[in-house]
Amino acid sequence: MDTSLQNIVDEARAMIAAADAASLAAAKARFLGKEGLLTQRMKTLGKLEARERSRVGKELNEVKQAIEALVNAREAALAKLELDARLAQEAIDVTLPGRGLGRGGLHPITLTIERIEAIFRSIGFDVADGPEIEEDFYNFTALNTPENHPARSMHDTFYVEGQDSSGNGLLLRTHTSPVQIRYARMHKPPIKVIAPGKTYRVDSDATHSPMFHQFEGLWVDEDISFTDLKSVYTDFLRKFFETDELDVRFRPSYFPFTEPSAEIDMRFHSGPLAGRWLEVSGSGQVHPAVMRNYGLDPERYIGFAFGSGIERLAMLRHGIGDLRLFYENDLRFLAQFNP
Ligand code: PHE
Repeated sequence: MDTSLQNIVDEARAMIAAADAASLAAAKARFLGKEGLLTQRMKTLGKLEARERSRVGKELNEVKQAIEALVNAREAALAKLELDARLAQEAIDVTLPGRGLGRGGLHPITLTIERIEAIFRSIGFDVADGPEIEEDFYNFTALNTPENHPARSMHDTFYVEGQDSSGNGLLLRTHTSPVQIRYARMHKPPIKVIAPGKTYRVDSDATHSPMFHQFEGLWVDEDISFTDLKSVYTDFLRKFFETDELDVRFRPSYFPFTEPSAEIDMRFHSGPLAGRWLEVSGSGQVHPAVMRNYGLDPERYIGFAFGSGIERLAMLRHGIGDLRLFYENDLRFLAQFNP
């Protein structure tokens, strides 16, 4: 091998040994490419005399193969380096604890509403809802609530800007009772419906929140009586609390839209609240004026309604002392309802 060829081999060896991906491509072009050093030499073979040509040709071929082998080896080495670096970077420590699925769950109030709906559906009640921004008419007037009733005061109710189509005020509904009117006007008796949802009052302490949930119950038929209401509600409470060991009493009270009216109280036989009467719902027989506002004849139909606090029921069922826990979104509290 002449020295110039030996120089090419030495240069190629040095260049390829230290090459990265880019300089390897350059080296490949410099020695093996179309205009490369070896190719140029190959082109001069034709000028040589036959014997010399076969000797030099063989030599050039060997050098070419050697350089190709160097390039291939370097390519393989670079690929391995790259793979090793990625593996090191993306290394997974399989001994670390898992992150978990971070699965969400339903809020305890939502779970309570679902439970209430399931119980009432099982005895033939429909489930309805109504708007939270309500017309003054449905929230008060149609429910026989006079102009001077304290619930209509600015201090007790959140009024909203704007007015309904008849020019009356809009407000955040203070109870679910307006759904009685809306639903009864759209359905024919017999009517059996509950309507759970958000309600709003200017009230805030450990047992009152400016936003809370109620569910309304309405039952209208031709010959039902207070006994039916009492048995349905008692049965509901027993299913809700999963015990027959509780008493229910109807304590005379007043609501403008029912006559007679009663607070429903309950009392557990055992457990931390045993023996105490706990108020869980307002109720009563639908007032004749309200029955007329349903579009129904009070001489023909009799109706019973109740409106119960959902937070209250959830607190009693789960032994929760502070209503505000429902709205703080502390996962330590919420997670307990989604095991
Ligand atoms: N709407 C009443 C309240 O919020 C409860 C109630 C509903 C009373 C239906 C009687 C009948 O206090």
